[in-house]
This record gives sequence, C-alpha cells and structure tokens, in this order.
Amino acid sequence: MAIPEQVIQEIKYRNDIENAISNYITLKRRGKNLVGLCPFHNEKTPSFTVYPENGSFYCFGCGVGGDVFTFTKLIENLDYIDAVKLLAERSGVEIPQDGYDDSMHRLKNTVYEINREAGRFFHQYLMSPKGKTMLDYLLGRGLTVKTIRHFGLGAAPDSWDALIKHLTAKGFSIADMLQANVIGQSSKGTFYDRFRNRVMFPIFNIRGNVVAFSGRVLPGDDKKGGKYVNTSDTPVYKKGEHLFGFNFAKANCAEKIILVEGNMDVISLHQAGFTNVVAALGTAFTDEQAKLISRYTKEIVLIMDADEAGQKAVRKAGEILKNTGLEVRVVNIPDGKDPDEYIKKHGAARFDALINGALSEIEYKLSNLAKTIDVLSDSGKLQYLSKAAEIIAQSNDDIARDLYIGRLCNNFDVSRTALESKVQKLREGKQKAERKKEIKAIITPHYGKDDVNPERRNSPRGTNAEENVIAILLQHPDLCDTAIKALQEDDMLTSLNRRIYKKIIECYVAGIAADISHFGESFSPAETGYIASLLNGEKGSLNAQAVLSDSIQVILQEKKAKNKALSQDTTVDDWADDLKRLIENKQKGNKNNG
Ligand code: CTP
Ligand code: MN
Repeated sequence: MAIPEQVIQEIKYRNDIENAISNYITLKRRGKNLVGLCPFHNEKTPSFTVYPENGSFYCFGCGVGGDVFTFTKLIENLDYIDAVKLLAERSGVEIPQDGYDDSMHRLKNTVYEINREAGRFFHQYLMSPKGKTMLDYLLGRGLTVKTIRHFGLGAAPDSWDALIKHLTAKGFSIADMLQANVIGQSSKGTFYDRFRNRVMFPIFNIRGNVVAFSGRVLPGDDKKGGKYVNTSDTPVYKKGEHLFGFNFAKANCAEKIILVEGNMDVISLHQAGFTNVVAALGTAFTDEQAKLISRYTKEIVLIMDADEAGQKAVRKAGEILKNTGLEVRVVNIPDGKDPDEYIKKHGAARFDALINGALSEIEYKLSNLAKTIDVLSDSGKLQYLSKAAEIIAQSNDDIARDLYIGRLCNNFDVSRTALESKVQKLREGKQKAERKKEIKAIITPHYGKDDVNPERRNSPRGTNAEENVIAILLQHPDLCDTAIKALQEDDMLTSLNRRIYKKIIECYVAGIAADISHFGESFSPAETGYIASLLNGEKGSLNAQAVLSDSIQVILQEKKAKNKALSQDTTVDDWADDLKRLIENKQKGNKNNG
C-alpha cells in the first residue's frame, strides 16, 4: 500500500506542521522551534517540541514523535493511510486512485456504510408499529424519544434474514456483510442475521461513525443466546479500543470523565445531563481505552458495581490508569445499585453530589485497608497505621496528606508528630527514587529510548555509534555513499537501527531524501519519536564526516567482538574443567608450602 512519493511530499508540503499542530494545541516559539504541552501524555511544563525546519515533532516527556502524518494519525486516532488521506482532503490534494492498493481502505469504507445502513434499518424498525414492544421497553426504562434518537437506538426484527434482505436490496454483498459481522454463516453454509429480536445499541467511533452493535435481549426472552450479542472484531472495530458514549463525551470531558459499566448507564446519565459518561463495552478496561481518555481529560471517576466483579474491575482499571497521569477517583454507589437505577431513584442532584464527593484514591485505599486488618487489636492498629502512612505518603498533595494524617490521629488516638514524621520519611525515600529516575532520564539522551531499543544493553557503545550514523545520514544524506561502502545493513547491531539504516539506504538508492515521512508507515510512534530525536539532536551536527567513519569503525569492532565472544563461548563442561584444574593447582601449592 503505497501512495506515490510525490503525492506524499505534496501533502506534506501543503500541511505545514506548525499550522497542523496548532489546530490542536497551543504552541509557543522558542528559538527556531516551537514548544507546547504534549497532547499524548499529561504534563504541566511543555516538553513537546515542533521543528518546522524539517517538519518533525518530538516529545521529550513521552518519547513520541514523527511528522505531520504521525501526529494526525495519533491525535485523530486513525491508521496511517487514513491520516494521509485526511491531510490530503484538508489541503485539496487529489490522491490518484491507481498506482496503489487501497483495498483495505475501500473495505473499511464499505463496512462503515453497512453499519450506517444497518443502524438506520434498526432505528426505523424500532420507531415503526412493529417495534412497539421494544420501544415500550426503552420508554419503560425512562428513556425519552429524544434520547433514543440521540443515541440512534434501534430494534432488530425477530427474523433470520430481514437485515440480509434489506442490505442486499441496498446493493451490499454477502461477503461485505460478513466482514461487517452483521450476519453469520451456519455450518450448512446458509447466512443469517446475527441480531434478532433485540434492542440495538449502535457503537460509534470517536468521529461518529457506527463501528459495531450491541444487542440486548428483552427481559423474559433470556433463554435465546446471551444477554448481549456484540459485534466481534471487524476491519473497523477492535474490542477494547472503543468506549460506548465517547463520541458524545469527548467534547464534555475537559475536566473529568465518568466510567461506568453498562451501556444503559451511559444513556440514562447522558439524558440526566451527565454528558461526560462512557462505558468500556463489556471488556475489562484496556490500555488503549486509558490512553484515549487521557488525551481528553484530567480526571477519571470510576463507578463500578458494588459486587466482587465490580471491585476487581476497579482495581484493574486503577492499575492501568496509574501510568496515564490522570487523577483517579472511585465512587461506590450506595446500596449496591447501578448508576442507572440510582439516578432514577434519587435524581440528578444527588448523583452529582455523589460524584463530587467521590472518594479520593487515598480514601478508597484506606477504607479497603481497614477491611483487611483487625484495627481493634493493638498489633492490628499498628499494622494499619504503618500501611496507611505508606498510602498517604504516595500523595503529592500537601493539604490532602495533612487532612488524612489529622483524621487518622483522631481516629486512632496517636500523636500527630509520630505519624507525620513516619510519612515524611517515606516521602523522602520516594523523592530520592524519583530524583534518581529524573537524573537517569537526563543522562539518557532521549527519554524512554531504552524501551524503544531494548537491545541497547547488549552493546551500549555500539548502539551509540549506530545512532551517530543514523543522525548523520538523516542530516547529511550526501554522506550515504560513504556509509554504503563501509557499512552493510547486517553490520548494524540492534534490529531497530538496522531497520532504520535499511530504510535510509533504500531512500538514498531510490534517489529520494530520507526525511521522516518515510518512517511513519512501518515504524511505531515511539520509533518515529526516536528517529525524530536523532534527526534533531546534537549527534551528527559537528564534524559529520569524521564522526561517521569513526562510528562505523566502532560498530564493526563491536560486531567482531560479539562474534568472537559467541564462538568462544565456553561450555559448562569447559568451565567445570577449568575449575577442577584451579582447585588441583591450589592443593598442590598448599602441599608444597606445607
Ligand atoms: N455485557 C456484554 N455481554 C454480556 C453481559 C454484559 O457485552 N453477556 C456488557 C454490555 O456492554 C453491558 C455491560 O457489559 O452494557 C454491563 O453489563 P450489565 O450490567 O449486565 O448490563 P446493563 O447495560 O447494565 O444492562 P441492564 O441495565 O439493561 O441490565
Ligand atoms: Mn444496568
């Protein structure tokens, strides 16, 4: 799948990176570059840098980087080819249809169309006289017609082929319907509607396209299949990557987002005015979902069912959210109801109070801790206080720490100074560890680099030399000739740098500049971030020619040393022999002395 090089360059030329990124975040000029708050991780001081000179960006905080295509791909949550197309559209560049294979892109579009048509079909059926039972069910659960329209809810007829017939009449093929997973094929080879006699919830992606469906049985109909039938993975839908309601919530969640368990919870909360609510669609909360959310909001409030499964889900979500920089709070719904029931019974105001008085993470952890320890005994009390001090010490909020220390002192009748100094000690330890990490990040030229290239530890010296070579060739393509003569692709020690080197040489041989746009399709954002940091870093800026040949020598030396070490690798037997000889010699020596 390759869009012609000139077209890529044309699109890139017309989508100035500075303007493109400014559409999403505020950039401030710093010298010839621009900086801003990174949209891909949470930060308070700007480490996201844009280099207009060569059309790249790099975040020193999270290591993400690349060109205008990578940026668009990430921020719009698209795949590479769709990002290129979006930028082409925005700048009026026509992408020639022949010359590259866009069958995947076409298939995706067809699947989107099938979903849209199916969604329309289900909605019309719900609103027709035949859909009355289903509509009554939804109205009976307190939804208004306006809400039903807003969420595009529908109903699947009690039929094996109503949708097949409808879609066929609209000109869609059976093969494409299978791809969209709206129909299935029996072992006999016949085709059938996957959703039958169910209330239908369309699932939208962040841009508002229908990507999947969730179909709920009517109560009393439970014997037929599960409570929900969901779309499996399709070319446009992957379980765990979407959130129910996010297309609506994304505009209303700058401050906080609320995560609930059920689709019905989302819908009834939106109806009650809480438009920042989403659900994880029946899966455990995933890393992808956490990442998606963290780009839009500062805080997440978890509302899970009071049962064991719900509590487990909270703990897991908490783990996943820990690395996103989001503030996390947990709300337990009193008397074990779900939010949908709670709001119907107590109203929006009380739900709002519940959300705003949500337990902070500290409170939640402390109350959980209290459940596991017998705080009435003296030893239990000590144990609780010592664990509680650890929990409190984790908080960077001075006032919060003060508050909880005070509370514990009152409840447990211990001296404030004792508890305070314990927390203080723990914090000093924590700060030391953090400072160590910071310093390490500064010494390491690019943050997170070791994750991008884990083979570095096999040969730090060699990897460093490889990076010199790459930086120099990116900055001085004219030196590729020298490199080709002295350094084979296979000489590169780490596989990531080997791939990058290969790409650079390929571009050079094809007579095109190896600028960063060539890496977006086959390298991950962390990898293009690494490339961008080399392109814009100090490496390769001085005495390029000399550093290049020195670095190549280092790589070749390291490779030789590595090969030698491999061939000389002493076996366990050799080693045991050596040891035996050593002991014998020593005994002989002792005898001689004695
Ligand atoms: N779910 C699922 N498959 C099931 C059960 C549940 O996919 N067999 C998912 C659905 O996305 C559902 C969520 O898990 O919305 C929560 O399940 P549950 O609480 O049972 O459903 P509710 O949406 O709350 O449904 P209702 O209130 O109508 O019982
Ligand atoms: Mn429910």
